[in-house]
Formats: sequence, C-alpha cells, structure tokens
Amino acid sequence: MTQDEMKKAAGWAALEYVIPGTIVGVGTGSTVNHFIDALGTIKDQLKGAVSSSIASTERLKALGIQVFDLNEVESFSVYVDGADEINPSRDMIKGGGAALTREKIVAAVADKFVCIIDNTKTVDVLGAFPLPVEVIPMSREYVAREIRKLGGNPVWRENVITDNGNQILDVHGLAITEPKVLEAKLNSIAGVVTNGLFAARGADVVIIGTPDGAEIR
Ligand code: 5RP
Repeated sequence: MTQDEMKKAAGWAALEYVIPGTIVGVGTGSTVNHFIDALGTIKDQLKGAVSSSIASTERLKALGIQVFDLNEVESFSVYVDGADEINPSRDMIKGGGAALTREKIVAAVADKFVCIIDNTKTVDVLGAFPLPVEVIPMSREYVAREIRKLGGNPVWRENVITDNGNQILDVHGLAITEPKVLEAKLNSIAGVVTNGLFAARGADVVIIGTPDGAEIR
C-alpha cells in the first residue's frame, strides 16, 4: 500500500465520526482531501462545514458543501484534520501545509478532534519534523533570534505566505519532551501568531491508515 492509499483509508474511516444534520470542522492537507472526497458522498446529510483554509474551502464548495464562517457557528461536534507528527499522548506537530493558525482556531471550537494520519506520522518524541511557527512578517528575524536562544534552528519558508498574510519559520533540531510548555513559550514571543504544536488542545481520536486498513486509537 502506498502512503497516499494509507491516507485515503484514514480519511474515509473518519466518515464514521460525522454526525448527520450537523456542521463538521474540516482541516487541511492531502489526508484531509480524501476526507473531503468522502464527505462529498454524504453531502445531502450534512448541514455544512467550517474550514481551516482557503484550499479546503474551495474543495468543499466544489463538491456542493456549504461552508460557514466560523463566526456564525457557536459550537460543533467534530473537527477532522491531519498531522505531521503525533506522540502517544496525542500531542501533534501540524502546519506542514502552513494552515496551522486557522486549524488551531477551528479545533478550539470543536468538541472532538479526530486526527487522520498514515502510519509514518507516529513518533515517541515530537520534533524530527521541523516545527512550523507563523509570524507577523516584520517580526521574523526577531522571532528567529528568540527561537535560537531556546535551542532551535529556525529556517524561513521563503516561498510561502499564509492565508492570513503571514510568514512561516520551520524550527529544526528540537526534541520536544514537554509539548505544552514549549507551545506556550513560543506563543509568548512577540510577533508569533501561533506555532504548530497542538498540545494544549491535542487529538481525542486518532485514525491511522495502515497497510491493513484504518486503525483507531
Ligand atoms: C496543514 C497540516 C496538515 O494536517 C499536515 O501538514 C499533514 O498534511 P498531510 O495530510 O498532507 O500529510 O497541518 O497545515
């Protein structure tokens, strides 16, 4: 089975968590794209979606799924999104697709976070995948200096502007043994919009695509 086939197995398995007649939260990325395709097959049973990126919004709308502004939605049950890494405590690194800030906002409103991944994403300690940090453009070099003081090696993702008009630093060289502590520390640096650690609000359910199909943890 290819990695994409494992992503597809996880994405389609997440349909089980979608509650008919409600609004579903939709993340961003290649695994989520499979979930969106799956949602298209039950679109008549959905009230609609809230989305974490322009790319996912366009994909949802192309399938005829109504996308609500998050400001119009007080609460919803389930948010489905991928991850770049996840540890046994279900803390995640996200933001490989640069959508981390909107993902964190939509996830904050959801009752349940269903994480969909292929089996290459599980790790014991987060940090082999460079940690994305979204920054206000004028703060980039200041934030980079502060991150170096914490032991990380930040690299500017030069070809990317986020949906919010900001820039991304990818932080290499971290072994993240205390995800919640680092998440809060990075967010306290002036100019940081948010970082890709999802530990204060981790996943509730993990669906892992494996060569034998989807496994739920
Ligand atoms: C985007 C994300 C994605 O969920 C993460 O990068 C995983 O992507 P993929 O499903 O393509 O492997 O956080 O900002």
